[in-house]
Amino acid sequence: MAKQSTLDAIVSLAKRRGFVFQSSEIYGGLNGCWDYGPLGIELLRNIKESWWKSMTYRDDIVGLDSSILMHPRTWEASGHMDSFSDPMIDNKQSKGRFRADTLIEEYIERLHKKGKEVQAASVQDRLDTAVAPEDYYSIIVDEGIPDPVSGSKEWTPVRYFNLMFKTFVGPVEDESAAVYLRPETAQGTFVNFKNALESSRQKVPFGVAQIGKSFRNEINTKYFLFRTREFEQMEMEFFTKPGEDVEWYEYWREQRWNWFLSHGMKEESLRLKEHPADKLAHYAKGAVDIEYLFPFGWGELEGIHNRTDFDLKRHQEFSSKKLEYVDTVTRERYVPYVIETAVGASRSFMAFLCDAYDVEEISEGEKTEERTVLHFSPSLAPIKAGVFPLVKKDGMPEAAKEIHQRLQKHYKTQYDESGAIGRRYRRQDEVGTPFCITVDGDTLTDSTVTIRHRDSMEQERISADRIEDFLRSHID
Ligand code: GLY
Repeated sequence: MAKQSTLDAIVSLAKRRGFVFQSSEIYGGLNGCWDYGPLGIELLRNIKESWWKSMTYRDDIVGLDSSILMHPRTWEASGHMDSFSDPMIDNKQSKGRFRADTLIEEYIERLHKKGKEVQAASVQDRLDTAVAPEDYYSIIVDEGIPDPVSGSKEWTPVRYFNLMFKTFVGPVEDESAAVYLRPETAQGTFVNFKNALESSRQKVPFGVAQIGKSFRNEINTKYFLFRTREFEQMEMEFFTKPGEDVEWYEYWREQRWNWFLSHGMKEESLRLKEHPADKLAHYAKGAVDIEYLFPFGWGELEGIHNRTDFDLKRHQEFSSKKLEYVDTVTRERYVPYVIETAVGASRSFMAFLCDAYDVEEISEGEKTEERTVLHFSPSLAPIKAGVFPLVKKDGMPEAAKEIHQRLQKHYKTQYDESGAIGRRYRRQDEVGTPFCITVDGDTLTDSTVTIRHRDSMEQERISADRIEDFLRSHID
């Protein structure tokens, strides 16, 4: 299947089967915002739960849930007020608004496709050293880069646009009441460094994990859940002694890579992308992205950054509160270094959905047909088992409902008695349910059921009182 149509097919399945809806759809939608439907919320919660367990069910990491609105000085200290902005340009004719750097990157890609490597390299050099708005503007004008939709080359000057959403606390909308929706959860963790440390009696090295919504007023949103204005992050800040930071940075790179694999993500769909030393963010000493091969190409899933003592020192300076750690044994006093693992819950959702998606040709006897299947790992699948009576008579529905109710105490299961059994299997395949349990005539005499495996489509018979054990061993 062609790349773009795969993404379209996934978006359409996501809507049809209740994974993701456009926000406020009945009003025409709101760009860059999405709603998770009945199955989507299960998948999202399973992803977050798994991350939370892997991060906080250990002795050296504690959890936190800080507020979305924070004291505005936070963003002065973090650098977001001054430098969390993108270069923006408007087309005078089409009124289209674009990120200037993205327009240039897409132009460079087109040059590569046409084999114009020398020109592509020279534009790339200019883009890499662009800082001021005029730098971007002159590349666009010199190269004659057109508006991708209208083809117009009539551009306004480039301006920097801060990505933080601004709002006001209280009834008066003046600057003294201005606050921002957080663009990352990390700063809520840094300002709570002392609280987390002292209340949990941790010792460095230790970490603080947090899952929460963040907001960025992106100039252009794109690719479904990939670049949105409201999104959810799963961030962990690990505080280390300076000098031990590099070792922990290596450790967390490996841990996070393995987390994706342990949930069935294909290794060939993942890659590590190092940030070259001259492109590191202002706060970072080392940085690597875990990228996923989405249907539109490679895109960042997670960043693992060595943020040094930048954040704690800045908050120390701006708040005038000491954010040091005192080693109780050696009496050493220092501001810890931070290794951050920052992954999008929403992006992970999209990556797991894309990775699971498949359209397979299957043969049954003479017949060949297509089945759409989501190969989610059982731990992430929204529904763990479908429970069916083979036919709607002879006490089978009652027996199947009884099993379904028993299982629902521990697992999300779904009862379905409508239509042919084959169609019921397909409905569950399409939403990634790993197992289907069917009650048939034999169940009523020998108390056994069939369990059908989603991926192999093979069936086995087990005793009905062993179903919970079976699910436990295959899911947990
Ligand atoms: N805290 C890093 C990020 O938001 O990507």
